[in-house]
Amino acid sequence: MIKVENLSYTYPKSKEIVLKNLNFEIERGEIFGFLGPSGAGKSTTQKVLYKILNDFAGEIWIENKPLKDWGNEYFEKIGVGFELPNHYLKLTAKENLKLFASFYPEKNLQNFDALFEMFGLAGDADKRVEEFSKGMKMRLNFIRAIMHNPDILFFDEPTAGLDPVNAQKIKRYIIKLKNEGKTIFVTTHDMTTADELCDRVSFIAGGEIRLTEKPSTLKNEHGKHTVKVELENGQTAEFPVKDLGNNRKFAEFIAQGEILRINTQEATLEEVFIKITGTKLME
Ligand SMILES: Nc1ncnc2c1ncn2[C@@H]1O[C@H](COP(=O)(O)OP(=O)(O)OP(=O)(O)O)[C@@H](O)[C@H]1O
Ligand SMILES: [Mg+2]
Repeated sequence: MIKVENLSYTYPKSKEIVLKNLNFEIERGEIFGFLGPSGAGKSTTQKVLYKILNDFAGEIWIENKPLKDWGNEYFEKIGVGFELPNHYLKLTAKENLKLFASFYPEKNLQNFDALFEMFGLAGDADKRVEEFSKGMKMRLNFIRAIMHNPDILFFDEPTAGLDPVNAQKIKRYIIKLKNEGKTIFVTTHDMTTADELCDRVSFIAGGEIRLTEKPSTLKNEHGKHTVKVELENGQTAEFPVKDLGNNRKFAEFIAQGEILRINTQEATLEEVFIKITGTKLME
């Protein structure tokens, strides 16, 4: 669906190469993520893909057609959740949506009231956006990205600045979009978001992709391959996962009392990120 080969990018008037030879593909029905610290090049990559930045080096195909050959019909096909919401502050939330809706075929548009309701803005639709909190602006930003039912979605830090309840709503909706067969590219510097959402994730640091993999594979491969057992009486012990069913010590241990919890000792994505890139996700 999206194929990127040897993508490099340098901002005009700048000497620094910001994207260095990136290669990745995103399938239909996939949530693909860029996980990386501030300044890694996440937003720049998305800006190239949604045609705000041109003059890149390398090849990009969208549905087997070079990005450069796509005209204005491309903008009907994609939805963009910008990193920083850029609404018209003097207009109300509904007026903002109507303004952007005028760029799209009417048959594709979702019902605004239903969207406001879904993202907790039903009572605020007729308020001027200048009265909105940051989280409200982010939610309106999200609605704007999805309202025309696009096939391809770019979400740049979709849960930044949101409280846990609203962050969860947004994540659930992104998974719903995936289940509808959309192609989804998210960026984040939050390992939990990457872990919960992404089918595959690229670690990006210093403008380079250091690895692309399924989060579960990464956590498993870099984890300890043990299970930690905690009994209700407070005793804990760790056992190798391998051949656990035949481990006599394990059987004896769990026979001693009620089990409180059993956990596999997986690595976190952040730990794997540091191990692979030598860089932290956040300072
Ligand atoms: N308009 C610009 N002109 C010149 N350099 C820029 C411009 N925008 C970004 N950069 C530089 O490009 C690099 C990558 O920036 P980018 O915004 O893509 O990072 P990011 O991974 O999205 O970071 P964050 O997590 O902070 O959003 C940074 O070094 C940044 O200083
Ligand atoms: Mg960014």
